[in-house]
Amino acid sequence: MNILVTGGAGYIGSHTCVALLEAGHRVIIADNLCNSNLETLNKITKITSKEVIFYQIDVTDESAIDNIFSKHTIDGIIHFASLKAVSESVERPLIYYYNNVISTILLTKACEKHSVKRFVFSSSATVYGKNKVPYVETMKLLPTTNPYGETKAISERILTDMAKVNPDWSVALLRYFNPVGAHESGLIGETPNSIPNNLMPRITQVAKGKLPRLYVFGNDYPTTDGTCVRDYIHVCDLAKGHVAALNKLSKGVHIYNLGTGQGTSVLRLIHAFQETNNIKIHYEITARRPGDIAECYADVSKAERELGWTAKRDLSAMCRDAWRFEKKHAGP
Ligand code: NAD
Ligand code: WQD
Repeated sequence: MNILVTGGAGYIGSHTCVALLEAGHRVIIADNLCNSNLETLNKITKITSKEVIFYQIDVTDESAIDNIFSKHTIDGIIHFASLKAVSESVERPLIYYYNNVISTILLTKACEKHSVKRFVFSSSATVYGKNKVPYVETMKLLPTTNPYGETKAISERILTDMAKVNPDWSVALLRYFNPVGAHESGLIGETPNSIPNNLMPRITQVAKGKLPRLYVFGNDYPTTDGTCVRDYIHVCDLAKGHVAALNKLSKGVHIYNLGTGQGTSVLRLIHAFQETNNIKIHYEITARRPGDIAECYADVSKAERELGWTAKRDLSAMCRDAWRFEKKHAGP
């Protein structure tokens, strides 16, 4: 299939492009490079020995989108392009609503105009709000604590409503849990623009000496060791989930959790990193981070049952691959 991948130069997008190319699909990337760089495209080609078609466009630009849809026969779209920093979304809500919601509206509009019937959307576990774990796709969504999460919930609704009036559409709403790690080649991975907010890139930056220590946000949560629990998933497993969704999708709207189903505490992840890579991580317990919930992990049985997909890589592989990439590429 010819797959249009918006945000394909980014972290999850680039790994998914590799998985798509390896599965025999052709890839057209649309990315404005606001949080990525051109070099990633060469690395995708280096890993797969296959070329991608690239358009440096903003997916809030309707005519630029239309140009791509007019030039290529597109069999399906995976829409990754989005701003994703939760705290920034609280400070600059309009930029997030504009970028993340307008892009979904315009891409959906282009699909309708050009009869593209397969749409895979990057959603997030954040849409579950303060539901009880494990999160199941059938749960009623609760309000999220930030505009970023709202942009995902709104986009899900837009796609669901559009699929109702286009009954021959196949839409997958993929709710990712906490993607970490990097491609085993060490060529592509996550390259945060400034000091990262997420746990794994902070751990690797402490390991490298770029940050003096890791602050663990709270150890008084009602969890086994008092630190927050998350469902970390290797980005290559996540990437394969997209290929499975594209291949297996039937008509209608289908929601899938993409996680491992395993909860891991902050301290457990730190210890796994230390043991896997034989490196000491200096950390200090500090106050809770506002907005954090105690536990977040998935029920992944639906993806396994319907897509035949499960995450294969364990915590050790996530830690090993994240560290390999950090050592090789991310900065001094
Ligand atoms: P990323 O920032 O690495 O990738 C996003 C890409 O989209 C970047 O290459 C960026 O340049 C591009 N982009 C953003 N706005 C654009 C626009 N208007 N026009 C064109 N390109 C644009 O982020 P990621 O971690 O790869 O996330 C991919 C998707 O997965 C996003 O939709 C994100 O919200 C979602 N998601 C991410 C996580 C996570 O923890 N990384 C978790 C859940 C969901
Ligand atoms: C994980 C745990 C922190 C940094 C975020 C978004 C979510 C999704 C994934 C996009 C938490 C703790 C972190 C640090 C720490 N993104 N932590 N010290 O918050 O689960 O999810 O990314 O959709 O929407 O909210 O991920 O990696 O930031 O935090 O102790 O320096 O690590 O408190 O418990 P989070 P995270």
